[in-house]
Amino acid sequence: MTADNTPDLLATGKKYYLPVYRPRDVILERGQGARVWDRDGHEYIDLSAGIAVCGLGHNDPDLVAALTEQAGKLWHTSNVFYSEPPLRLAEELVTASRFASRVFLCNSGAEANEAAIKLIRRWAASQGRAPDHRVIVTFRGSFHGRTLAAVTATAQPKYQEGYEPLPAGFRYVDFNDLTQLEIAMSCGDVAAVLVEPVQGEGGVMPAAPGFLAAVRELCDRHGALLALDEIQSGMGRTGTLFAHWQDGVVPDIVTLAKALGGGFPIGAMLAGPKVAEVMQFGAHGTTFGGNPLAAAVARVALRKLAAPAIANNVARQAAALRQGLDSFNQELNLFAQVRGRGLMLGAVLKPEYAGRAGEILDHAAAQGLLLLQAGPDVLRLVPALNISDEEIAEGLKRLHAALRAFAAK
Ligand SMILES: Cc1ncc(COP(=O)(O)O)c(C=O)c1O
Repeated sequence: MTADNTPDLLATGKKYYLPVYRPRDVILERGQGARVWDRDGHEYIDLSAGIAVCGLGHNDPDLVAALTEQAGKLWHTSNVFYSEPPLRLAEELVTASRFASRVFLCNSGAEANEAAIKLIRRWAASQGRAPDHRVIVTFRGSFHGRTLAAVTATAQPKYQEGYEPLPAGFRYVDFNDLTQLEIAMSCGDVAAVLVEPVQGEGGVMPAAPGFLAAVRELCDRHGALLALDEIQSGMGRTGTLFAHWQDGVVPDIVTLAKALGGGFPIGAMLAGPKVAEVMQFGAHGTTFGGNPLAAAVARVALRKLAAPAIANNVARQAAALRQGLDSFNQELNLFAQVRGRGLMLGAVLKPEYAGRAGEILDHAAAQGLLLLQAGPDVLRLVPALNISDEEIAEGLKRLHAALRAFAAK
């Protein structure tokens, strides 16, 4: 029998879902801007935007129009035939990126990174490098997705345990540690460095000033590619359309997903001139990648997220959030640090509150606020990039109440 009350529906999820997630006991039903409502009518300010996905908030009228217009025309063609939205999106992504020559469209972040990993390996093979000279270096604390290769690139044991044997040819070093990277690359067997400009899942940790430029320099010196995972940090989140624009580097590969579709699933791998011709007919593929619905939405998301108004709003609202967090911290003394770039912010709990970010998320939900954590010790704030002054002010008010309730326990 189908459940129609909320507790029964929640029990349905607990019974039938593979229990790989632990959602809060809230069933969200609709959204508008940075507000969402659950099926029982409770209203929330959303400082999570999915997980940094809904860059334009919920129910953006232009995204809805693009989706519904395309829905009435053509849903799917396979990649055996062309359709117009992905053709246009590919050209627009190449132009917007300022470095790429070609694009591979897919459906998720992990798939975009999987494509990047395969491209790196093929490129190294095309250079005559033996399989054991196709090493990809990644950084501790990184997150690159859950497919077997992407989770191997993810240098965090908790995501890998039990999935061995893992694919070979990955090497891990500490994030922001150039000395370690230099040693890791000195054997001459490294094909690429894969790095997030701001580590998201790993605790909202930005690359140190100058770090990516130094990584680029090391890659050039050792004949390796620079691949940037901008799946979470890209599409305007850090204050520029591409996060690495702030680091002054030109990458060889960039992966995107999350905000690219504004909430509709899509991923992309952008390939620069050095690697754009490496994969030829039959080398890779996906049934749904470049889906006309996803591409129609992503075209509008890309255009809107690239507008200067978004960058201005990111700077304005990031300053407001930082100011609010600082003032709550003066009162409650909970955070060791607030870090991040643009509207990708992490409030790091002091050691005495270590492991308790989840409790704060519970208090936040009770106050009508959706927050995220990045690991057990960091609150993550990644709201819509067009969030309004009023929504930020109301969100901060509710955050204050949640933090006070947590501190009072
Ligand atoms: C930086 C980064 N890379 C890759 C992924 C994986 O993306 P997806 O969950 O769409 O596979 C994520 C998801 O959180 C991410 O933050």
